[in-house]
Amino acid sequence: MKQNIAVAIDGPAGSGKSTVAKEIAKKLGILYIDTGAMYRSVAFACMKQGVVLENETAVLAVLEHLDMKILPQTGGQHIFLYGEDVTEKIRTQEIGAGASVVAAYSKVREKLVEIQQQLSKAHDVIMDGRDIGTKVLPDAQVKIYLDASVSERAKRRLGELEAQGKQADLESVEKAIAQRDYQDMHREHSPLCKAEDVVVLDSTGLDIATVTEKILEIITEKTK
Ligand code: DC
Repeated sequence: MKQNIAVAIDGPAGSGKSTVAKEIAKKLGILYIDTGAMYRSVAFACMKQGVVLENETAVLAVLEHLDMKILPQTGGQHIFLYGEDVTEKIRTQEIGAGASVVAAYSKVREKLVEIQQQLSKAHDVIMDGRDIGTKVLPDAQVKIYLDASVSERAKRRLGELEAQGKQADLESVEKAIAQRDYQDMHREHSPLCKAEDVVVLDSTGLDIATVTEKILEIITEKTK
């Protein structure tokens, strides 16, 4: 039986994972699965229903009846909550921080990891997140850990926010990123860490095209 291609990209917030993964998906004609968007959607559903994210029991009650649909495509994934396409709406700093809170709950992780594993069974995928190489796709042929300095990641995030016409200052973006790193790396369940067989790439000072090229070379090497 042909084994599906599975490429796992992990790394902290703002390291460029999703931009690069999308590019690679297009180049290879495989599906891009954005797992962060799933955690963001859980947080967004809770926030819309007035649930305090620190209240695990209340979050799990929302999770139980969550109507979330994922439409993976080569050019990017769309995600629907209760029939509404929320792909763009969930891309805020506030929802990112909320996603980091709900992502610490093991029941939330179990449910989303199951969806992610089902998707990879059915398709060739490139998947990005925090626990892809360690937990979701431990047998992935290619595992990348994409890193960058906090200050570089904050500058990129600020640029994105400004492009969306949103106001923010570098210091507060940097603080928010450092806090999210800490939470994602120190939680009990599936914290962000480097898988044993991972290739670590530091994208500080590199542009998207260069990082994409480097990862494509690694994929070619590992899947030949
Ligand atoms: O990649 P992102 O910024 O969209 O992710 C939002 C949050 O979701 C992140 O801070 C931690 C959590 N997350 C996770 O715990 N595991 C994943 N596989 C993906 C995201």
